[in-house]
Amino acid sequence: MLFYFNSMDLKGKVAYITGGSKGIGLGVAESLLQQGMKVAISGRNQKSLDDAMTVLKGGDAVMPIVSDVSKIDDEMEAVKAIVSRWGQLDVVLANAGVGHFAPIDEMSLEHWNQMVDTNLTGVFHTLKATVDLLKRSKGYYMTLASLAGTNFFAQGAGYNATKFGVVGFTQAAMLDLRKYDIKVTTIMPGSVATYFNDNEPSEKDAWKIQPEDIGKLVVDLLTMHPRTLPSKIEVRPSRPDLKGS
Ligand SMILES: NC(=O)c1ccc[n+]([C@@H]2O[C@H](COP(=O)([O-])OP(=O)(O)OC[C@H]3O[C@@H](n4cnc5c(N)ncnc54)[C@H](OP(=O)(O)O)[C@@H]3O)[C@@H](O)[C@H]2O)c1
Repeated sequence: MLFYFNSMDLKGKVAYITGGSKGIGLGVAESLLQQGMKVAISGRNQKSLDDAMTVLKGGDAVMPIVSDVSKIDDEMEAVKAIVSRWGQLDVVLANAGVGHFAPIDEMSLEHWNQMVDTNLTGVFHTLKATVDLLKRSKGYYMTLASLAGTNFFAQGAGYNATKFGVVGFTQAAMLDLRKYDIKVTTIMPGSVATYFNDNEPSEKDAWKIQPEDIGKLVVDLLTMHPRTLPSKIEVRPSRPDLKGS
């Protein structure tokens, strides 16, 4: 029997979004709540999670969790809390990530380690903490990579290294996990209007992908017919030429 979601089936399903307190993760949380799902969101900062709860207005359908994905114990505890409250886990979005940009000869070890520990090892930690539950639910595991996982650029060596790594990791994980009817996809966006890299989202970001657009994409993936798996998705602003306007 193949794993099968349709729009009706999303109601009552449980999702865990790492880095769900802001930006893309928050936009996806909003979209999944609109589908009647229960959503756990994580981040390192309690205040950001409190602010997200105010934005989401999801009541008991939202669970904020302080967890740093670079720490395996945090991720194990986070998932334990989700299961003890909701008894299952169906969808995981390993989204938490940070970016530091500098010529590689000037890149600090601290920034390098933070990117590798969060963007790459963090994605593995989230998988380790959730994979048994996803086997049980025949669920969906997604990673939030980037176009920086296929296009390299000056001052991006550290960030590129982590996102190329996430793309390779996710594709290989897909091959390992599909026999359990777990779906695995990596989403690779170009510029999204978020707080990433100290950005303050505003009108100037109107040309960028908006977080709710990634939310719509995630819902589309979850409702795709089970015989078909879009395993690697590049998504970009359709009019980057409007950037300077
Ligand atoms: N914005 C873009 O243009 C863009 C494009 C392609 C890909 N991406 C990727 O999209 C993902 C989300 O970024 P965003 O643009 O939404 O940035 P954002 O607005 O800065 O949000 C990042 C989220 O990740 C959380 N986070 C950071 N480090 C964490 C850690 N160690 N453990 C748990 N949570 C952590 C943050 O909360 P705390 O700070 O409270 O921990 C926040 O909730 C990242 O992986 C990023 O690389 C972004």
